[in-house]
Amino acid sequence: MYRRVVRPVLYRLGKGDAEVAHEQTLAGLRLLGRVPGAAAAGARLFGSALPRTVFGLRFPSPVGLAAGMDKNGIALRSWRAVGFGFVEVGTVTAHPQPGNEKPRLFRLVEHEAVINRMGFNNLGSSALAERLAAYGPLGYPLGISIGKSKVTPLDEAVEDYVTSLRRLYRYGDYFAVNVSSPNTPGLRELQDAGHLRELLTALRDEALSLSAGGLGGKPILVKIAPDLTTSAIDELLQVCTDVGVAGIIATNTTIGRPGVSEHPLASQAGGLSGRPLAEIAAKTVAHIHAETQGALPIIGVGGILEPSDATRLFDAGASLVQVYTGLIYRGPGLIRRINRGLTTHGD
Ligand code: FNR
Repeated sequence: MYRRVVRPVLYRLGKGDAEVAHEQTLAGLRLLGRVPGAAAAGARLFGSALPRTVFGLRFPSPVGLAAGMDKNGIALRSWRAVGFGFVEVGTVTAHPQPGNEKPRLFRLVEHEAVINRMGFNNLGSSALAERLAAYGPLGYPLGISIGKSKVTPLDEAVEDYVTSLRRLYRYGDYFAVNVSSPNTPGLRELQDAGHLRELLTALRDEALSLSAGGLGGKPILVKIAPDLTTSAIDELLQVCTDVGVAGIIATNTTIGRPGVSEHPLASQAGGLSGRPLAEIAAKTVAHIHAETQGALPIIGVGGILEPSDATRLFDAGASLVQVYTGLIYRGPGLIRRINRGLTTHGD
């Protein structure tokens, strides 16, 4: 139904501009959240998965919405109705920013893939804090992804992240430190051990002082790129363990073009997601799981287009998974099917 009826309509919106389809979908979902009872009814229909507890939070389903889809948190009343057991808003930055010039989102339909170079278009962490303050309890854990503003030089990045953490601390259940987007120049250098240690230590210390102020301890996770060498991942994991990070989100989009290099859109700059990412994401998750002997919880993300792709990430060691591109190609039915298939792995 989604692929035959809904998807062709969505893809024609804005004369085929992928970003217009995205905006319209979000607006529609936001309206759905305003219909009394609709979210609860949808959650009953779609969200029958086994709940599980990871890094101290109880997730009604282990399938979450990946960062970047609802950057400004406009449809948070509706995602549960789609079947998601958690949502990661953002990536948000200390300064509001428009992101890169359009077009910046491209569908490689034959490969069930997307290339994006959005560049953290978002209303800023103050606006997000204001919006989140207006929501009551959501009924699921909310993750907040924070990144660096484009105008902030790399050597002032720490303060940029800390500012957003401080503004948003009371509203998030966990925080994702995004050091892996390919679309902010220099950002991925923050994955290097030296930079990362400084950044994470500052964020941890800020979180500790905020929690001493009565807001409770909140898990901080790091989101990594799929393009790191295994030795770079191992160094990064050492830093994460030393600093006391709660988990790893693997992975962000890839700057590689595995299996799609012949496609006319493959030369577009940006990060690739969807089907071609599945194998690298699973390998990355497996490597982290082995290297940490399962001690560090992993959120697996990348290329879930079928329930079996989610199973592969769980089998590789993920405790939770997230979906973005799969939602574009398969619609909400994918989330329902993953949830239905999850009869094991619960609490
Ligand atoms: C993303 N992704 C992303 N990740 C992140 O940490 N912060 C962000 O702001 C964004 N923005 C974003 C925009 C668009 C258009 C896409 C397609 C992706 C990456 C996303 O969260 C996820 O890690 C990857 O897309 C891989 O998962 P999928 O899409 O293959 O399920």
